[in-house]
Amino acid sequence: MPVPKSDYVSNVWRDGLFANKVVFCTGGAGTICSAQVRALVHLGANACIIGRNVEKTESVAKDMASCRPGAKVIGIGAVDVRSVKSLEDAVERCVKELGSIDFVICGAAGNFLAPISQLSANAFKAVIDIDLIGSFNTVKATLPYVRESALKYQSDGKTSNSAGTGGRYIFVSATLHYAGVPLQIHAMAAKAGVDAISSGICIEEGPRGITSNVIAPGGIADTEGLARLSMSGGSGRRTSGSPIPAGRPGYVKEISDATVYIFSDAGNYVNGSTVVVDGGAWRTMVQP
Ligand code: HXC
Repeated sequence: MPVPKSDYVSNVWRDGLFANKVVFCTGGAGTICSAQVRALVHLGANACIIGRNVEKTESVAKDMASCRPGAKVIGIGAVDVRSVKSLEDAVERCVKELGSIDFVICGAAGNFLAPISQLSANAFKAVIDIDLIGSFNTVKATLPYVRESALKYQSDGKTSNSAGTGGRYIFVSATLHYAGVPLQIHAMAAKAGVDAISSGICIEEGPRGITSNVIAPGGIADTEGLARLSMSGGSGRRTSGSPIPAGRPGYVKEISDATVYIFSDAGNYVNGSTVVVDGGAWRTMVQP
């Protein structure tokens, strides 16, 4: 039974919005990224999702493809974003089978709670390697195709390209590092670096028509991230105990909606930004 579109993306978006577009997503079998990709597929895109677990990645891809007649979704498992070669092979297969890469979501991440006293150098490096170096590797492997897409779909801002948009990066980051939280030095350092990569791409590649933006989710219900970090109050950062201004946790659909906005024609002039999707929670973080 296909998952209803309304579970993954708001009905404000039109069907076919991303027809003939291809999204390449690392960490694409995870809860947040799979929702982002599923929304794009519902709205017309084809997709290539990358993960370490072969069975999970292939099964999520198969399920995503069932959400729209004619949708093509490739799931490539046994790809570790820490390995440049395995990423390059995946990119090559994506372009060979789907024809292009128009949108990239850098979503692969690893995390756990640990105080600095129990955080080994290798543990710190593992998270930096997955989140930060993995995002860098993903950009390196995809950039030639993303440049091609940006050139093809550029818009002058006054008139929309009737063929749609392309040449866009989204990095899935976090808000942990804005004020600092306990037990997350590894993730905070990694995500601060991820934010910096996005800013650098905005500056360097913006003149070629590429946009690069960050989505920073808050505590999103029913995600592995929330489960892993629940020991520190759910989102790993609510040290003050103050309520989320929105009065509830977020849902994956709300991350998908931000993704659709950034990749759509409505997001043409959004570049180098961070879209925080956390119900206002980061505004309540303990400030110095
Ligand atoms: C302390 C730990 C640890 C823990 C692992 N390590 N877990 N140290 N506390 N709970 C240490 C290990 O002892 C080892 O150090 C080092 O980390 C590497 O561990 P490995 O298991 O060999 O690494 P690897 O198999 O590559 O696994 C990477 C991982 C793992 C990050 C450690 O948790 C993982 O694969 N996670 C992927 C899934 C995941 O985390 N999803 C959640 C994403 S959510 P030593 O010194 O012993 O060699 C997310 C949201 C962030 O990221 C933002 C939140 C709001």
